[in-house]
Amino acid sequence: MKSGDETTPQKIPITKPFFGPEEEAAIRAPLHSGWVVQGPFVKEFEEKFSAFTESPFSVATSSCTTALHIAVAALGLQPGDEVIVPAFTWISTANVVEYMGAKPVFCDIDLSTFNIDVAAIDDLITPRTVGIIPVHLFGLCAEMQPIQKIAQKHNLWVVEDAACGFGAQYHGKHAGTFGEMGCFSFHPRKSITTGEGGMITTQREDFDQQARILRDHGASRSDLSRHTSKAGFLLSEYNHLGYNYRMTDIQGALGCAQMDRAASILETRLQRARHYNQLLAGIKWLQTPTVPDGFVHGYQAYVCLFRPKEPNLNNVDRLHQGRNELMMRLEAKGIATRQGTHALVLQGYYAKKYALRPEQFPNAYLADRLGLTLPLYVQMTEVEQALVYQSLQQAIG
Ligand SMILES: Cc1ncc(COP(=O)(O)O)c(C=O)c1O
Repeated sequence: MKSGDETTPQKIPITKPFFGPEEEAAIRAPLHSGWVVQGPFVKEFEEKFSAFTESPFSVATSSCTTALHIAVAALGLQPGDEVIVPAFTWISTANVVEYMGAKPVFCDIDLSTFNIDVAAIDDLITPRTVGIIPVHLFGLCAEMQPIQKIAQKHNLWVVEDAACGFGAQYHGKHAGTFGEMGCFSFHPRKSITTGEGGMITTQREDFDQQARILRDHGASRSDLSRHTSKAGFLLSEYNHLGYNYRMTDIQGALGCAQMDRAASILETRLQRARHYNQLLAGIKWLQTPTVPDGFVHGYQAYVCLFRPKEPNLNNVDRLHQGRNELMMRLEAKGIATRQGTHALVLQGYYAKKYALRPEQFPNAYLADRLGLTLPLYVQMTEVEQALVYQSLQQAIG
């Protein structure tokens, strides 16, 4: 769920970006220099991002959605191709496949991790399948080793939707370093933000080059390189069908300041999440986030499952009502909650176009109906977390 739909002031919001004087100073610099489109600060942000995630190449974009669009375009996705995506994710994971005239094929999820059910992927592969887009939902990596094995066996590409994956690790490696490309989001619901914004990471120089060309109208040379070299008066060459998916330098400067405090933001979020784990351990009707061995959770969001009893397709509607009542009671106390994200099979466009029924993707449906995101942000205090815990207990009582 996206933020920005609050109409009443919340005492405890779902999240808050963390900005200080450094961010204020950073965004003034491009205003003073007058260079506000993609330029030196975007370049610096990309370098900082590469250093942090240990990705050889990083390409900033205007959002994660545009990053994903560039990634599938760079991989040559064609009309009629099929791409496997989880059935429970933000809608743009599938939308970018549609943009190319290709078909997203939905895969159910594992209800304990909210990520793609690796065991269900093989059955979805057809001669038309060309790729998989696993999602590192809410900051927990998808099971990349088995996914990469399947991809290798069937000669498929992998694009990681790491919109929520900043700070997430899988067996010692950062999200975004496994597939052909990884795509991150800097929307304000994410751990670090540039307002809107995205980043493509890749290990391959050819994908890096293609991504740079596609984000900039198909230009073979960036404005920055034109303006800083001789004969900058000549326009670039345009040999590809590109887009304008550039990040502004104001956002780039903000991104640099956020990167400088990224380690501390992630550490604080981790502490807050651990504190929730302790507080909520006694609440048996709430499934708190799972962290399997070998995973570092980035905690883009702290998403639980309302589980007063074992959920199934027969009892889910009643449990769903209970979850919504709980959310309303918390809202009345000034505590914002959100559903985690949505089951794409419930969204009109996909449900109609592909005649999908929720029963085909039971776990995605249960996650949609019973997911419960609790507030989490760096500035959150232990008193506020205790209030969330007490309010949860009172609400259910
Ligand atoms: C899993 C996932 N993919 C893609 C996106 C799209 O990111 P953006 O808003 O930066 O386009 C989001 C944003 O919430 C997301 O959660």
